Amino acid sequence: MLLGLRGTGKTVLLNEIGRIAESENLIISKVEAPEGESLPKLIYPELRKVMRSLSGVEAAKHIATRGLRGLRNFASAFKIEVAGVEVGVEPEPGLADSGDLQYDLPALFEMIGRAASAAGKGWIFLIDEVQYLSEADLSALIVAIHKMSQEGLPVVMVGAGLPQVARLAGEAKSYAERLFLYPEVGALDRHSAARAVEKPIAVEGGQIAKAALDMIVERTQGYPFFLQEWAFVTWNNAVGPEISSAEADASYAETLALLDAGFFRVRIDRLTKAEVQFVKAMAALGDGPYAIAEVAKSMGRTHQSLGPTRANIISKGMIYSTDHGYLDFTVPLFAEFMRRQE
Ligand SMILES: Nc1ncnc2c1ncn2[C@@H]1O[C@H](COP(=O)(O)OP(=O)(O)OP(=O)(O)O)[C@@H](O)[C@H]1O
Ligand SMILES: [Mg+2]
Repeated sequence: MLLGLRGTGKTVLLNEIGRIAESENLIISKVEAPEGESLPKLIYPELRKVMRSLSGVEAAKHIATRGLRGLRNFASAFKIEVAGVEVGVEPEPGLADSGDLQYDLPALFEMIGRAASAAGKGWIFLIDEVQYLSEADLSALIVAIHKMSQEGLPVVMVGAGLPQVARLAGEAKSYAERLFLYPEVGALDRHSAARAVEKPIAVEGGQIAKAALDMIVERTQGYPFFLQEWAFVTWNNAVGPEISSAEADASYAETLALLDAGFFRVRIDRLTKAEVQFVKAMAALGDGPYAIAEVAKSMGRTHQSLGPTRANIISKGMIYSTDHGYLDFTVPLFAEFMRRQE
């Protein structure tokens, strides 16, 4: 479970893991949890694809076909609209038809696991933006993965999401802590940050002055998306073949304008007025983490009266609790952005 702030490279890593899995001949499914959509609907087409592909392997045909029957039950139990009728698939009562995801999802994963095992294959399930899953959906997914691990079936899940996912998973199922690894995806160290800028320039036959590189690494604090944007603008503006620090510096304002209009703006646009007031109050206190009590005090409000606002901003993925009583932004350098707004 890759955890990190916005724009740190989680999706890039998830895609890379998918590519590696593909070269290892695994069956891959990749989904992104959208806000307000249920897991059954999201996962159904993937389960169907995997089962259908396994049903084409002689050794796995029998189990995979049963899996498809279960899937058909699943679709009607969860009221998933299915285009066309599954030809030749008879219903099988009792298989993934309880309508309770905690039973039905593990049952379907088991069918896939057993079919994959019979086919000598493995299935990797990649899921992005895990923080948007409801507690019930996350719980069912954890139960399903737990079952795979207990039964030694060749199914793995790799998830990615905001830092609060570790807590959400633990709250959903206490054993989640032991089931997953939680590598932190964060800012790059100086060396990696410098390489991320320098390497693509070198590939194109250019160079960048050391002072320019140091400036970019320093001011972006090594955050992948900011490195990407500033290096992109600088590359476009530079005369070359060596990018000077004056050119990098001159591109900074344009980079900020680009981030302000895109990366930062889309996030603030999703908040209500009251929520904007809350994050403004946070940013005005300096850089995070922020004590909730301090934020409330600066707004002249009580801790309790701000509870619902805070919870909404968290569920929109804008802020997260770093520690008991503390909050921070999920977007790096967001406080600075807020302070740039009038
Ligand atoms: N290893 C890397 N090397 C160079 N650039 C990278 C690397 N990882 C990420 N980036 C840059 O950072 C950008 C953001 O990465 P990515 O979309 O994976 O972030 P994320 O963690 O999924 O963010 P979000 O939480 O908003 O979905 C990429 O488009 C790319 O420009
Ligand atoms: Mg992402």
